[in-house]
Amino acid sequence: MCADKTATLSLNGQTYDLPIMSPVLGPDVVDIRKLYDEADIFTYDPGFTSTAACKSAITYIDGDAGQLLYRGYPIDQLAKESSHLEVCYLLLYGELPTADQLDDFRNRVTRHTMVHEQMHYFFRGFRRDSHPMATMVGVVGAMSAFYHDSLDINDPWQREVAAIRMIAKLPTIAAMAYKYSVGQPFVYPKNSLSYAGNFLNMCFAVPAEDYVVNPILEKALDRIMMLHADHEQNASTSTVRLAGSSGANPFACIAAGIACLWGPAHGGANQACLEMLREIGTVDRIPEYIARAKDKNSGFRLMGFGHRVYKNFDPRATVMKESADEVLDLLGIHNNPILQVAKELERIALSDDYFISKKLYPNVDFYSGIILEAMGFPTSMFTPIFAISRTVGWISQWKEMIAENGKIGRPRQLYIGPKQRDYVDVTQR
Ligand code: CMC
Repeated sequence: MCADKTATLSLNGQTYDLPIMSPVLGPDVVDIRKLYDEADIFTYDPGFTSTAACKSAITYIDGDAGQLLYRGYPIDQLAKESSHLEVCYLLLYGELPTADQLDDFRNRVTRHTMVHEQMHYFFRGFRRDSHPMATMVGVVGAMSAFYHDSLDINDPWQREVAAIRMIAKLPTIAAMAYKYSVGQPFVYPKNSLSYAGNFLNMCFAVPAEDYVVNPILEKALDRIMMLHADHEQNASTSTVRLAGSSGANPFACIAAGIACLWGPAHGGANQACLEMLREIGTVDRIPEYIARAKDKNSGFRLMGFGHRVYKNFDPRATVMKESADEVLDLLGIHNNPILQVAKELERIALSDDYFISKKLYPNVDFYSGIILEAMGFPTSMFTPIFAISRTVGWISQWKEMIAENGKIGRPRQLYIGPKQRDYVDVTQR
C-alpha cells in the first residue's frame, strides 16, 4: 500500500493535501483522518456508500465485475472444490490448510459443538412461537455468561477459543432454537458427522427413529454455508466491528451481528424472498409484482434483488441458482412451482428497463430459500442458517480488528436539531 499520491481540497481560500492510499485491489482511498484537525470540517456519507471504515485482508468484492474473493480465492472455485470448514480456516488464518492443519481444525471445532447444559434451561424462557433469530440473539449474547474463560479480548489464546466456540456452537444453538419452536426434544451434536451433516441431524433427527443424513442435502448445505461465509464490510460485519471497537466481549459482538443480519434488507431477505415467491404463486401474477416494485409509492421491493456493491451480477447467486437446479433434480422434485416463478421473475426483471437501469440483479438470497425449503427447513430457519454461515466472517473480521488495536468506532454527524435554548417551566409551555 503506498501513499505517494495526494488529493487537494480547496476550502475558504486554503488548500489541504490529503494522502491517497492505494489498495492491492479496488479503487484508491482518500485518507481524511486529519481533515477535522486541520480544516475543521467533517465529511458526510450516510450508509457509508463511499467510505472505507477499515483496512482488511480478508475478502474482496469487485461489484462491477461480479467478483468475490476470500483471501484471494474466487468464490466459485471454493464453492465447487472446498468445504465450509476449510473455508473457515482460510478466512480465519489467511491460508488454505494442509491436510494435517485441516484435521486439527476440524477436531477443535467438533470438540466444541456441545453447549453448556445449563443453556438448555435458558431456552425455556422463550415463547414456543419465538422466531429462531430472536432466540439466537438472546442465547448467543448469553454465551458471555457461560464461557468466562474466553472473554478477555487482550489474550490471543482466549480470542482463539472464543472463535472456535462460536463456529462450533452456533449450529447447535440454531438447531435448538428450531427444535424448541416445533416442540421437539433437543438433539445433541454428533461429532462423527460433518459440520453441515451434524446441523441437519440436530434439526431433523428425533428420538423415535433413525435419521440418515442425505449426502446431497449435506453437500448443498455446506455450499450454502461457504457462499455466505464472509462479505467484507456489510451491515452485520460492520456492526460486529463497531461493537468490538469498544472492547465488548466476542459473544456480545456476534449477538449484535446476528441482530443486524435479521433485517429484511440484509440476511432476513432469504425468508422474505421465499415468502414473496409463494405469495406470487403463479407466473401469470409476476407482472403485477414487477409493477409494484417499480412504483415508489407502493413501498414494495423485489426481495432477493439488488445489492449495494454488485452492479452486474452476484457471483454467489450464479452458484446458488445452479445448486437449486441440481438439488431439486437430485431429490426428484420436478416442476417446482416456486422455482418456476423465481426463474420467470428473474427473466422478466432482467429484461425490464427499470431493473436494467438501476443495475438490479438477483442476489444470493434469491435462490437459497428454494434449496433450504427443499431440505425441509421452514422459512424462519433461513436467516439462522445465514447467521451460522456468516459467523466465521464476523469472527475473522473481529479478530483482524482487535489485532490492529484500532480506535473506537465513533462517526460524526451533521446536526439539524434546535440551537441551544433555555428550559421553560411546564406551566409556561
Ligand atoms: N426492488 C425494487 N427496487 C429496488 C430494489 C428492489 N429489490 N432494490 C433497490 N431498488 C431501487 C431503489 O428503489 C432505488 O431507486 P431510486 O434510485 O429510484 O431511489 C435504487 O434501486 C437504489 O436502491 P438503494 O436502496 O438506494 O440501494 P442500496 O444499495 O442502498 O440497497 C439493497 C441495496 C440490497 C438493500 C436493496 O437493493 C434492497 O432492498 N433489496 C431487497 C432486499 C434484499 O434482497 N437484500 C439482500 C441483499 S444480499 C444479502 C445480504 O447482503 O444480506
